[in-house]
Amino acid sequence: MSQALHVVILAAGAGTRMRSSKLKVLHPVAGQAMVDHVYQLALTLKPRQITLVYGHQGDQLKAHFDHEKVNWAEQKQQLGTGHAVQQAMTFMQDDEDVLVLYGDAPLIQSGDLAHLASKQFVLTAILDDATGYGRIVRSGEDIKAIVEHKDASPAELKIKEINSGIIQAPATRLKGWLQQLSNNNQQQEYYLTDVIALAAADKQPFQAIQLADAHAVKGANDMQQLAELEDIFQQRIRRQMMQSGVHLIRPGTVDVRGSLNCGQDVVVDKGVLFEGDNDLGDGVKIGAFAVIKNCQLAAGTQVEAHSMLDGVITTGACAIGPFARLRPGTELAAGSKVGNFVETKKTQLGQNSKASHLTYLGDAVIGDGVNIGAGTITCNYDGVNKFTTTIKDGAFIGSDSQLVAPVTVGKNATIGAGSTITKDTPDEQLTLSRSRQKSVTNWQKPRKK
Ligand code: UD1
Ligand code: MG
Repeated sequence: MSQALHVVILAAGAGTRMRSSKLKVLHPVAGQAMVDHVYQLALTLKPRQITLVYGHQGDQLKAHFDHEKVNWAEQKQQLGTGHAVQQAMTFMQDDEDVLVLYGDAPLIQSGDLAHLASKQFVLTAILDDATGYGRIVRSGEDIKAIVEHKDASPAELKIKEINSGIIQAPATRLKGWLQQLSNNNQQQEYYLTDVIALAAADKQPFQAIQLADAHAVKGANDMQQLAELEDIFQQRIRRQMMQSGVHLIRPGTVDVRGSLNCGQDVVVDKGVLFEGDNDLGDGVKIGAFAVIKNCQLAAGTQVEAHSMLDGVITTGACAIGPFARLRPGTELAAGSKVGNFVETKKTQLGQNSKASHLTYLGDAVIGDGVNIGAGTITCNYDGVNKFTTTIKDGAFIGSDSQLVAPVTVGKNATIGAGSTITKDTPDEQLTLSRSRQKSVTNWQKPRKK
């Protein structure tokens, strides 16, 4: 029978090397705070409890995890990773295994941990460039100690097996070793890594488990490493996408910050950015340099280059862009089209309705088979309140018209180009509000004085 699991996440460090006012572990990888990735990993392990160690800029961390059920262990002074775990000891129960995760190492996945049968281990990896990491000192199979980069001898610096920071041990043993830590080292910190040598001396050595995917253990201490983690994470997502059949024309240029579900035969062109939660149906095509955020795009939807979609739902195959800006609450039906330099917000466009050029549609309910001429504007805002424009099936809105909401354009109605419509218009009829064209016979061009 395996014991109950207690996950301790370290997130109290000052993160000075980031040179940022933002708490280090809140810096994002793939659009999500590093510590979120770590926290989500912890949840997949179904632990009995999770303890977050907070300290430096701790208010930021507390605000971030406002609604989560965690133990909060305060580390008032940042005296090292061992000292940080000591602060969590009050929550540790004797029948638990304690797993320590570092909040700045977000690439580990549950698969890396799930199959670990051992109760007491440290996760390691072989890195070509081990600079900055703790080195694993072995004698044969056994792990004798971890030596931090700053404390390592020239010979130890050559070791390529590094410490991920992830260790697990039974609570009772771990507490014993934690109490013996000293800060007699280069950084004058209480290192969690010294627990390894204490355990070896007790003849209860840690097992060093080497991960095949060396990248998974990497942590971010500065902006360059953060960018490196982002790169690794994106490569991983793109690999998964392509394995599931998504055609990425230029994979290295596509980024996903959040979740993305794709149907069959989805094509994504160069330079596309996905943010938030997106769902793409079969045969969806996303053109070059589009930004797609929190969208559900039905099968066959075609998004042309340089379009920005935020909170868009399409319910059938439709055409968007190039250069379209679609904001939250936009809902497009099958056969509809939103063309270049069109902005929409909280707007439904019915089947086969088209707004092909240079238009603003906000707070609008537009029926089927409607044509919106170039330069049409729904005047939805009086400076205080927003109002709805309703355009019924089959209506034709002439170019350069303003529809002053609240207003309804009738079924199959036509609005003459250049009209300012302030009152509801009848079904089937032509309505226009511009003055009759005239030519002034005696008019003279101004002359230079
Ligand atoms: C640490 C390890 C190193 C390992 C590397 C992996 C130690 C002594 N060193 O080094 O062996 O190779 O991670 O990425 O553990 N923290 C606190 N309180 C503190 C200090 C740190 O909560 O007083 C937290 C930080 O917020 C961070 C984590 O612990 O999330 C790791 O600390 P960091 O300073 O980044 O350690 P590294 O130098 O990266
Ligand atoms: Mg670190």
